[in-house]
Amino acid sequence: MSNVVIVGTQWGDEGKGKVVDILTEKADLVVRFQGGNNAGHTLVVGGEKYALHLVPSGILHPAKRGLIGGGVVIDPVELLKEIDGLTQRGVKISPDNLLISERSHLILPYHQALDQARENSKGADKIGTTGKGIGPAYEDKSARIGLRLGDLRDLAHFRDKVKEALGEKNHLLTGLYGAAPVNLEELMAQAETWAQRLTPYLTDTRRQLQAAVNRGERVLFEGAQGIMLDLDHGTYPFVTSSNPVTGSVTAGAGLSPRAIDGVLALVKAYSTRVGSGPFPTELSDQTGHDLRERGLEYGTTTGRPRRCGWLDMVVVKTSVELCGVDHLAVTKLDVLAGLPELKIATHYLLDGARIDYLPADYRDLERCRPVYETWPGFEGNLSGVRRLGDLPLAARRYLNRVSELAGAPLGLVSVGPDRAETIILHDYFK
Ligand code: IMP
Repeated sequence: MSNVVIVGTQWGDEGKGKVVDILTEKADLVVRFQGGNNAGHTLVVGGEKYALHLVPSGILHPAKRGLIGGGVVIDPVELLKEIDGLTQRGVKISPDNLLISERSHLILPYHQALDQARENSKGADKIGTTGKGIGPAYEDKSARIGLRLGDLRDLAHFRDKVKEALGEKNHLLTGLYGAAPVNLEELMAQAETWAQRLTPYLTDTRRQLQAAVNRGERVLFEGAQGIMLDLDHGTYPFVTSSNPVTGSVTAGAGLSPRAIDGVLALVKAYSTRVGSGPFPTELSDQTGHDLRERGLEYGTTTGRPRRCGWLDMVVVKTSVELCGVDHLAVTKLDVLAGLPELKIATHYLLDGARIDYLPADYRDLERCRPVYETWPGFEGNLSGVRRLGDLPLAARRYLNRVSELAGAPLGLVSVGPDRAETIILHDYFK
């Protein structure tokens, strides 16, 4: 396999950073294709811990390249901060190893202001966004009034477009939300820095990607968020504004779906969610609390505590079907050790009827009661285990059941945060 996509099957935070890192070692090019700096991947490379939000993880390895496709929305302030932070730590970043699509859209200060003002105005109904301006930036893209990275090449034209946008945005910010307006001159002063520093990285990434594929390079597509946050297939409206599904590689990076020859789907051994929205298997009891503490379930991007619950296979199965999955990567299995019993949701009960899908209306999903199978728990420290056969029998049974219900074989099992704490069953990029 040479073009492999990694997706998260739940609500994000499945532990993609570590798995991406393992695969990055063998990849030549690592590609982001959707989302923005709402994502947060933690990686440990050479004993050093890095939290990446926008820059593809390939950049941490010499001789590998990172590519940000046109489907990503980019906050130039955050991108430059990330580049500077990495540079200070000795990571070499230049247009030779970081390629940014000239078609990718900018997240501008008025997008963040609107995201936050809107959330604040919603009270109890808020989506619980990361407040990074993701939704408003994608809105402008769809409304065809967005500014793209490529627009930074002509600042006079850029200024005209921002001025026009601000007419509407400031009206909303001040008139509707009582928030402070965004100043054109201040924005343009920043834009000069963005233009000067970022335009050297801009390129037609689709052509670069196609050329890399034609040369037979190994390409890793690093999905952000999870399928339950997909704008079309997730728990709408409590979703993000992009499509984390595999198919998004085509639109967001510009590659034919036929060129994708491997899909690895991440499944955390239990469920978590940040932000609001339905979560059928959520646990508000001591077990939920224990999962959060043992799994260190606090957001990489916002630091918010994550809601925790049992594994929901209605969710995972839906994501596996949508993403054309070859293998599952089950993460954080070690966090379950010590629990006397484990539950797996296989169906829901909706008004007395047994269903095996996610209803489209979130109010129906909120009324769904999970139907559980109960499996015996397992004990012990799993972090030293490197072969499936060395896991406790109950852990193996749990994994087998997950694989059976998902309809996909296991490719990897993570038994601890360290890269070495991994059972590899399928070697991608062999
Ligand atoms: P937004 O993407 O900032 O608009 O937030 C929309 C929803 O997606 C909120 O519930 C966020 O908490 C959630 N979200 C966005 N990005 C991530 C992520 O990378 N991991 C987990 N949740 C996320």
